Amino acid sequence: EKHGFPFFMEKEIHEQPASVERAISGRINLDGATGHLGGLNMSARDLLGVDNVGIVAAGTSYYAGMVGAYLLESVARIKSSAELSSEVRYKNPIVTPGSLYFAVSQSGETIDTLYALRELQRKGGKVLGVCNVVGSTIARESDGGVYIHSGPEIAVASTKAFTSQISVFYIFTLLMARMRHMSWEAGIDFAKALKHIPSQIETILGQTEPIRRLAKKYARYQNFLFLGRGINYPVAMEGALKLKEISYIHAEGYSAAEIKHGPIALINEQTPSLFLVSDDSLREKVITSMKEVKARRGRVIAVAVEGDEEVADIADDYLYIPHTEELMYPFLMVVPLQLFAYYCALELGRNVDQPRNLAKSVTVE
Ligand code: M6R
Repeated sequence: EKHGFPFFMEKEIHEQPASVERAISGRINLDGATGHLGGLNMSARDLLGVDNVGIVAAGTSYYAGMVGAYLLESVARIKSSAELSSEVRYKNPIVTPGSLYFAVSQSGETIDTLYALRELQRKGGKVLGVCNVVGSTIARESDGGVYIHSGPEIAVASTKAFTSQISVFYIFTLLMARMRHMSWEAGIDFAKALKHIPSQIETILGQTEPIRRLAKKYARYQNFLFLGRGINYPVAMEGALKLKEISYIHAEGYSAAEIKHGPIALINEQTPSLFLVSDDSLREKVITSMKEVKARRGRVIAVAVEGDEEVADIADDYLYIPHTEELMYPFLMVVPLQLFAYYCALELGRNVDQPRNLAKSVTVE
């Protein structure tokens, strides 16, 4: 059932145009320029009363939650945060009447996330599930929720679940923003950009050869930094997680702005940095960080937007992705990172689908 791919992970990466399509299909209302999520069990009036969103999750699902929190706060203007479920459970969290929570979990069985959900519910919190596995424990115990419809994810390294989880947050953001200040026109632009994403992912997946070459060149380095800013910061974290999980290369994800507060001390010829450079308001600042790394003889790999010659000139190596709206880049940035980790692992002869010490779902504390 790998459909000709050597590993499930590669198959699942390639499924993303279809899985993102499934995650958003039927959930965009173009007439109203808004989102529609059937399983929330909340009236429009209930949703209007939400003034705080808390997202709890682990691993890749946590990074998807960070993207969600960024979107909800910056676009829907609702105070939002993502937290590690393992930490929420023990911090005696404050639950307020206007709070709404999301427990994000591909498997729906992650014990840390399940326990965080129960603790929030005990305190009167309303917790919605964002799960893939139908009928899973988190899906059953939550007060409503949304299935991401990725189809079974077999590889231990999560890929298609991430892009589907963030899809749900884009839809929810559209819904919440349109109930507040977002105009019909702005809603249409947001919806259209989202609808265009599956075909743009397809474009990236049609050009994997440069990514494979890059992995061949870099797979033998032992330390990497992954750097991004704004909504791409969690994507940098996710890219680093993918690389360490399946290739066992040490990688750290950081905000590009943070390197000067410490990690820049690691930079030398042996520690490459992979920068995510979208064509947004933070681009100039990311370029400044790239130059700082270059000045310390660090190698720079950039994932940049098609046609960005300035970045191509500065970087030692670069990959281009298609242009999209400022906040839609996580979809397009994460795919080359998934493939980069995958090809590095292949290059090193790793067991991609079953990396050492890891289980697909972590049901112990
Ligand atoms: O099933 P979940 O989404 O709750 O799993 C959470 C993490 O265990 C999971 O994302 C893990 O980090 C993956 N192996 C990442 O690729």
